[in-house]
Amino acid sequence: MTENKKSIHGEWSSRFAFILAATGSAVGLGNIWKFPYIAGEYGGGAFVIVYLLCVAAIGLPIMIAEIMMGRRGRQSPINTMETLTAEAGADKKWSWLGWLGVIAGFLILSYYSVIAGWALDYVVKAFFGSFSSGDSAEINALFDDLIASPMTLVFWHTVFMAATMYVVQRGVSGGLEKAVRFLMPTLFVILVLLVGYAMTTDSFDKGLSFLFAPDFSRIDGNAVLTAMGHAFFTLSLGMGAIMVYGSYLPKNISIAKTSFFIAGADTLVALMAGIAIFPIVFANGLEPGTGPGLIFQTLPIAFGNMFGGWFFGIMFFVLLVFAALSSSISLIEPAVAWLVENRNISRMQACIWAGLATWGLGLTVAFSFNIWSDFKIVDKSIFDLLDYITANLMLPIGGFCIAVFAGWMMKPEHVLEELELPEQHVAIWSFLVKYIAPASVFIVFLHVIGII
Ligand code: PHE
Repeated sequence: MTENKKSIHGEWSSRFAFILAATGSAVGLGNIWKFPYIAGEYGGGAFVIVYLLCVAAIGLPIMIAEIMMGRRGRQSPINTMETLTAEAGADKKWSWLGWLGVIAGFLILSYYSVIAGWALDYVVKAFFGSFSSGDSAEINALFDDLIASPMTLVFWHTVFMAATMYVVQRGVSGGLEKAVRFLMPTLFVILVLLVGYAMTTDSFDKGLSFLFAPDFSRIDGNAVLTAMGHAFFTLSLGMGAIMVYGSYLPKNISIAKTSFFIAGADTLVALMAGIAIFPIVFANGLEPGTGPGLIFQTLPIAFGNMFGGWFFGIMFFVLLVFAALSSSISLIEPAVAWLVENRNISRMQACIWAGLATWGLGLTVAFSFNIWSDFKIVDKSIFDLLDYITANLMLPIGGFCIAVFAGWMMKPEHVLEELELPEQHVAIWSFLVKYIAPASVFIVFLHVIGII
């Protein structure tokens, strides 16, 4: 591999641009929508600790591995895996890993876009003052009405998919990079404000202790699997999103340092979302375990009651949409890059095909909340099933394989060449990807299927 080989799709303009894009991919609905509701469902504190452990011991080393592999391969995850497999002299089957990722990205985006559609609908609701009563029963009804309406969900899902494909179509620096420049910092400021509001409720302590005081009796195999799956999901790992972003990374940038920053920022945003939401849940006598509607049923109460709530409500949901957009583009980028590389079509055509397929599957997700809500496979709706298969199975399996490939298959001198770290640091990383990360994933799976 030559030192200065570049991706045909372009490159990030700077280290900062890469950090923004990768943080943009990591920070999304996973942090603000999903983390609070799954933490709520699994009883809070103990779940949060397992999730934090997974981020540190499994997520971070795998993130370093994924970026490193992407930068070395310089193509879509499928072709990158082929190149790296040949370079390492490993079994050809390893290149299937790229396919697993592309498929996972497609499946995730199909439901991600429907949820991002909810956020779009809430921008309009916020604008027309629908939260102004600040009354929790009224706000609950708004959410129930929304998900009961198939056409409204399909409409917003369509808008969101169109926006995603528009940005992706503009390419790496023109589309992806520009989109995230302003969004991330502003989102952070609004979250600080919401945490400030939560502090004024008299349930702030209760919210905090729910989130941080561990009660391990609530933790079973499924809780651990969900926490681990979420660590992959929230860091965008195990499916090639971070790998494909790594493939646009210029040579002279430290992979390890940037990974620490991305994982740190991602965790901070999730915790802040939790700190903002749970006090509101308890102050209004709501249940923390109500599922995917949680942020839509709680935060509007804050907006209805706080000073300037109309403005902050609009801003919050606008930013949530943008946070979702900077993640959704990375979910489909591996497929688009592969179509451009292998099917000899333009980026535009690739976007149309990939976008249409995802949109089509998303329709079934939108219907699973209403007209098809009785249709269940293994007791799960289409939405629940897609979420479970991707976050709890495909991403951990993908991550497991990435760790094993980086740790055991790649030639150590190639790893060193990419990582450019002091020897002890490489030794720590290598211990984590060789043993700790794969063993943890494996043990959790064995436990869930009841073997241990
Ligand atoms: N990390 C994103 C989020 O938390 C979701 C995502 C998963 C993006 C996998 C890319 C790949 O919302």
